[in-house]
Amino acid sequence: MRTYIDSAFVDEVREADELGLVDGVTTNPSLVSSTDREYRDIIDELDEFVEGPISVEVIATDYEDMLEEAREYDTWGDNIAVKLPMTRDGMRALRTLYDEGIQTNITLVFSVNQALIAAKNGATMVSPFIGRLDDNGHDGVGLIEDIRTVYDNYGFETDILAASIRNPRHVQEVAKAGSDIATLPPEVADSMFDHPRTDGGLEAFLDDWGDRESPALK
Ligand code: G3P
Repeated sequence: MRTYIDSAFVDEVREADELGLVDGVTTNPSLVSSTDREYRDIIDELDEFVEGPISVEVIATDYEDMLEEAREYDTWGDNIAVKLPMTRDGMRALRTLYDEGIQTNITLVFSVNQALIAAKNGATMVSPFIGRLDDNGHDGVGLIEDIRTVYDNYGFETDILAASIRNPRHVQEVAKAGSDIATLPPEVADSMFDHPRTDGGLEAFLDDWGDRESPALK
């Protein structure tokens, strides 16, 4: 499974990149607004080291302005995916951008039918928000499983990008469900490394070894 980082803080992305977790980056208006930086400056800096897709989200909600933004964002880097909302205007823009060869990431997806419509219209990726579904007592991972089934039934090539990830369990569950990608908040990415038995086991090894020198370093 490919892992993206869901952040607009470049330093957080850089740290995750050093640990092999950055196959791409997703941003959204809320994440960018939390940085107090210009969107373009953030993307320029990410583009210096992120080789995978960087998702840049349109602000416009109407077809024409979405297209104008999308065509501009597509020039912002070597591998930009334009994020469009799962709305009727978003789908109209998706169809036009597909014909222009611009990568797209359809965001705010909460149902199989929405994911089906996005795939039929040529979406490069769809972002089901599993955490927000769980937050409302629904089954976010179950949605990934159902979209996987539908996409495989009909050979859709759209990538499932599990989003709104809340914890490390979400990551392993969407991987088991066959999600192509998961976009990880930096704190979730970091917590994936840890297990108390690993720390305890390492401590026990070192205790048993005592103060002997390493055989490789004599
Ligand atoms: O960036 C899209 C998605 O990951 C946002 O998740 O945490 O705002 O529900 P969240």
